[in-house]
Amino acid sequence: MERVRVGLLGCGNVGGPLARLIDGNADLIEQRAGVAVEITRVAVRNVARARDVPLPADVFTDDAESVVADPDVDLVVEVIGGIEPARTLITLALKAGKPVVTANKELLANAGVELFETAEAAQVDLLFEASVAGGIPLIRSLRESLAGDRIRRVMGIVNGTTNFVLTRMSDSGESFADALSEAQALGYAEADPTADVDGFDAAAKAAIIASIAFDAQVVASDVYREGIREITDRDIASARDLGYVVKLLAVAEQRDGAVGVRVHPAMLPTRHPLAAVRESFNALFIEGDAVGELMLYGRGAGGDPTASAVLGDVIDAVKNLAAGVPGARLGRLTRRPIRPIDEVESQFYLLMEVADRPGVLATIADAFGRHGVSIKSMQQRGIGDDARLIFVTHRARESDLRTTVHSLRDVEVVHRVGSVLRVVGDED
Ligand SMILES: NC(=O)c1ccc[n+]([C@@H]2O[C@H](COP(=O)([O-])OP(=O)(O)OC[C@H]3O[C@@H](n4cnc5c(N)ncnc54)[C@H](OP(=O)(O)O)[C@@H]3O)[C@@H](O)[C@H]2O)c1
Repeated sequence: MERVRVGLLGCGNVGGPLARLIDGNADLIEQRAGVAVEITRVAVRNVARARDVPLPADVFTDDAESVVADPDVDLVVEVIGGIEPARTLITLALKAGKPVVTANKELLANAGVELFETAEAAQVDLLFEASVAGGIPLIRSLRESLAGDRIRRVMGIVNGTTNFVLTRMSDSGESFADALSEAQALGYAEADPTADVDGFDAAAKAAIIASIAFDAQVVASDVYREGIREITDRDIASARDLGYVVKLLAVAEQRDGAVGVRVHPAMLPTRHPLAAVRESFNALFIEGDAVGELMLYGRGAGGDPTASAVLGDVIDAVKNLAAGVPGARLGRLTRRPIRPIDEVESQFYLLMEVADRPGVLATIADAFGRHGVSIKSMQQRGIGDDARLIFVTHRARESDLRTTVHSLRDVEVVHRVGSVLRVVGDED
């Protein structure tokens, strides 16, 4: 084999930079892969659109299936996105014995198990480094470098848009709405920001992380999800006063044979390494039995960083193709119990407004105590006739905390229970 011919499905934000990278780094790629790599066919939706890529016009088509089936295509890169037609195209390629590289988190988080089984049966590579945290080499780290270790937890900032918004709120005291408008004006957030701010994008990535870290069948709907719309500038300010920052975290953990996967805003101590991840950067904090604590940091999105991850996978698959060895195996993903959010233990931050009179604290402390939630610290501030109380609890079960909050709402001296946020990375 002298060269590997790539069929590129999609030539947008990721496909375009990938085509430029393959052209610009051709010598380096050939040296490292052992053979030349060349894009020979490209599928797009609109063939007439002008594109800044070093490829002749006649390689483009709007018939993606013809690219997959083309005998002049040895390897397929899918950067179209979404479930269909990506799922059908990838399946066709794998069944035809063609390795596939994809960046498609939405597809893998929903149909990953089926696609991994198809790849396994065909003994061809299905590689997806770019599907989680763009340019950060997380998947390969988990699958290869950490393959011999038992991973306990992976916590990540895996959505650049929400991290940018929370950083702006933190730095300048802006409201969520103002910070989001700024992110949209700068191109960090979409006109419809739902996928990012409501945590859907992070939940898809969390499902993939949990699948790979724990060899488990985890899909997007297994992920407990809360976004950042309810975070107020006051939450951010009181977090800072208490020595915390607010981040949207994806958490995948394994305990007692069950897997817990969740995405929610959380207060992290400022000393935690993830607290230093600002603006649109991403990072993954991995805890393993033998490796201890490990952090990966970088650009979680953007054309060039994502194309870099896709190209790394392409070179891996090219090496296997050129050597004529079966594709790298994923191993079996097994079904494991998914721990419901009610059973997860965390510390909590609660802010409430109460009547400022004697005996109030004892009444509130009693409500916590009756439901088995122990208070770690409390701050009080006077606001007119009322007082604002801020509690941080020790670790408690979600269900116990929820019952406590319900019971506090019925207490006459409690005028309002405002924000309730999980605190992560402090006592756990
Ligand atoms: N952008 C990032 O920073 C990033 C980061 C990590 C992962 N990803 C993932 O990478 C994938 C691609 O994202 P992207 O940002 O590059 O998307 P994009 O800019 O919207 O590009 C999609 C490409 O697919 C083509 N396309 C759409 N439907 C098609 C069809 N039915 N047949 C053939 N081609 C079709 C489009 O053609 P036209 O150009 O003619 O419209 C376009 O070239 C997604 O799975 C995404 O989640 C993206």
